[in-house]
Amino acid sequence: MGAYHIIGGNILSGEIKVQGSKNSSLPILAATVLNPYKSTIYDVPDIKDISIMIDILRFLGAKISRKANTIVIDSSNIKTWEVPEYLMRKMRSSIILMGALLGRFGEVRVSYPGGCEIGPRPIDLHLKGLAQMGVNLQERHGFIFAEAKNLMGADIHFDFPSVGATENLMLAGVLAKGDTILRNVAKEPEIVDLQNFLNKMGADVKGAGTDTIKIRGCNIRDLNVVEDYTVIPDRIAAGTYLVAAAITRGDVILKNVVMEHMEPILAKLRETGCKISCHDDFIQLSAQNPLYSLDSLRTLPYPGFPTDMQAPMMAFLTTVDGTSILTETVFENRFKHAEELKRMGANITINGNTAIIKGVKKLTGAKVEANDLRAGAALIIAALAAEGKTCVEGSTHVERGYENIEGNLSRLGAKIVKID
Ligand code: UD1
Repeated sequence: MGAYHIIGGNILSGEIKVQGSKNSSLPILAATVLNPYKSTIYDVPDIKDISIMIDILRFLGAKISRKANTIVIDSSNIKTWEVPEYLMRKMRSSIILMGALLGRFGEVRVSYPGGCEIGPRPIDLHLKGLAQMGVNLQERHGFIFAEAKNLMGADIHFDFPSVGATENLMLAGVLAKGDTILRNVAKEPEIVDLQNFLNKMGADVKGAGTDTIKIRGCNIRDLNVVEDYTVIPDRIAAGTYLVAAAITRGDVILKNVVMEHMEPILAKLRETGCKISCHDDFIQLSAQNPLYSLDSLRTLPYPGFPTDMQAPMMAFLTTVDGTSILTETVFENRFKHAEELKRMGANITINGNTAIIKGVKKLTGAKVEANDLRAGAALIIAALAAEGKTCVEGSTHVERGYENIEGNLSRLGAKIVKID
């Protein structure tokens, strides 16, 4: 298990370019199953989750070339609709292949997916929606067998705006017969990105970014080659670097950001007293004491504060004078990083889904362990401000979602190395 070794105390400054979005790239790669042609996609981050998705698509029969952040996928030869268990278990997002494979082949066999250990992550909303589209689902020994010789459009209302379920059913709707209407859907920017990609391949999808998405089902012959598509910037990676700058009371510039997507994060950083200026193609954050604690920070579906920024933000707040109250409403059991932060001297009390964080004068380097992607980012952030050396074990979790985080932070002046 790899680790990051960090010597804290350096103030971050300088400029970096933000990677393309992980959470956009994954469903977009899954969408390439639908059109039996070539798709060329730019700005796909070079991270582990993308490598897993590529391995799965290759297993299915796609021909893929990957050069830096550009991926060319030829899915004309996809022949199988069974995703092997060992690949499925590596990443939860693999479940969104169900909708695309059902659309193309009318059949799919997968096991229950894996992913981060952040509490129970059921897929009932995915399965319920597919059943409404006429999919016959059978669950046997941890495997899901799904079959729909006539995938039908349906009017589906989500109990909760799940990101993954919204994407899965959008993908299923593209080659279904008739119209699919999805209500109370996720409104994340990554959903809009998926819609834009699907429309570029000839699909007819409208409404992403609002509560209701409408997909007019089409024939596979109506789909076409995607000559070029660029995924949106990763708002969570951007937020992570901003918080990293803030904890060191630094001053950084990030290029490749969409301001509107960043607003839920920026609003809270501004409340802490960080100075943020937004320009056409870059964003600048400058943080100097005094900074202020947050009376109330709640994670919520977009446009609320993202759950993926909860752990990094918590790390920052441990160093801000006063008491901050942070409530996690999206996932259960997403506070495991708090115990590790406490090993570095943080003062955090967990009460159910609420964390009470009392700012301390200093954090101290320690040996800590990342048990999921964003927890890993949080521990790295804490280490940047801690006195002495921190060893963050579990770099593989961080590599799932951050492209070269050690290189980017080093460019900004941090002392960080990755040990494999
Ligand atoms: C996606 C993101 C992840 C982010 C999350 C919430 C990707 C690849 N991952 O994950 O980074 O943290 O959105 O913004 O895009 N739920 C159910 N039943 C379901 C589906 C979900 O109960 O069928 C629950 C989950 O357990 C969780 C909540 O809904 O408590 C949110 O999950 P969801 O929005 O589906 O997240 P993911 O798509 O897994």
